[in-house]
Amino acid sequence: MTAGPGDDRPRAPRILLGVSGGIAAYKAAELVRALVREGAEVRAILTRRAEAFVTPLTLATLTGHPVERTEFGEPPSPSILHIDLVRWADALVVAPATGNVLARFARGLADDLLSTVYLAFDGPVVVAPAMNPRMWDHPETRENVARLGHRGAVIVPPEEGFLACGDEGAGRLAPLEAIVAEALAAARRSSSLDGVHVAVSAGPTFEPIDPARFVGNRSSGRMGFAIAAAARARGARVTLVHGPVTITPPWGVETVAVRTALEMREAMHEAARTARVVVMAAAVADHRPAGPAERKISRKEPWSLELVPNPDILAELVAARRPGQVIVGFAAETHDLVERAKAKKQRKGCDLLVANDVSGAGSGFEADDNRVTLIDEQGRAEPWPLMPKRQVAERLLDRIEPLLAERPAP
Ligand code: C5P
Repeated sequence: MTAGPGDDRPRAPRILLGVSGGIAAYKAAELVRALVREGAEVRAILTRRAEAFVTPLTLATLTGHPVERTEFGEPPSPSILHIDLVRWADALVVAPATGNVLARFARGLADDLLSTVYLAFDGPVVVAPAMNPRMWDHPETRENVARLGHRGAVIVPPEEGFLACGDEGAGRLAPLEAIVAEALAAARRSSSLDGVHVAVSAGPTFEPIDPARFVGNRSSGRMGFAIAAAARARGARVTLVHGPVTITPPWGVETVAVRTALEMREAMHEAARTARVVVMAAAVADHRPAGPAERKISRKEPWSLELVPNPDILAELVAARRPGQVIVGFAAETHDLVERAKAKKQRKGCDLLVANDVSGAGSGFEADDNRVTLIDEQGRAEPWPLMPKRQVAERLLDRIEPLLAERPAP
């Protein structure tokens, strides 16, 4: 982020602050002050109900910008306000976020300016909920928060404490310092991979036995898709090479659909010719049936299937590594996770290796969450807690970026 050609000064991070209508909205004024003190430029959107708690004049004075309240601007302007705002912003921060706002975001409603902006914004989103503990604990709210987390929003959870309504419990807006830190980090992320080509593989491969049957595996592609989405949100140009999956590719990435390991190999070598970052998150079949039958094989008993090894694409990509390239592998294991992953990283020669235990439910294959252990550049194991795959993706990119910076592009 620079101020302009020939000027290396970083320009101020641009935060679009959405304030929704809970009592904690009174804290929005302090939040704006804190963001501005940290050097951010802030524009605020007030929902209709938030105006009952904090006035547009207060936030306009503190931000130095008119406060936006309706989809059409006031006075109505010929430009398309929500698009102007999302083009301007590096990050969208919603604090406080009411249960209503969480629900509307989670379901993609666009019936006021803030929810329309959320739908139109493809950069980093930070959400700081605040509400009565019973509302916060409601299963619908839980589900909405989880949904937003899986879509990449950073949730700054509310604290336990004494609330304005007189109840005690979790629901009080997070400390302003926590929201400010997440907001600034999000704004930085929005362009940290600007112009960088990232190639990601995802999903299983299906290896044909005959025209009707194949050997496959349970990979859903969610982890690789999350990495592609996170890299794209940081400004990268992303090529996503994926095997047969049922999930929808993230917006704005180039997809290459393949079926077999041999097709994936070709597509990944092609993408790696220009990629600075290569992430092999696919669960490539280690073997394929030898010479698949041209016609459907009929019942034979007994019948044995001869398998031949597939090429190790990751090892090949490492062997063909371009100058400045960062290469990341994955390892799905069911036992001796750390030892096997460390050995695998050494054998394959990648820079980082993400090991996941696929033996348990709720993590690994087909799940929305993942508990992984990162094997870092020095071969040290770093266990990460269970979290949405999108958060695993963000943390992984946070580790890839310094390696990229150490290895300037040729
Ligand atoms: O050896 P293993 O299959 O456990 O290695 C996993 C890593 O290697 C993953 O990054 C996977 O995408 C990659 N791989 C590959 N080619 C294969 C098998 C796995 O690139 N044939």
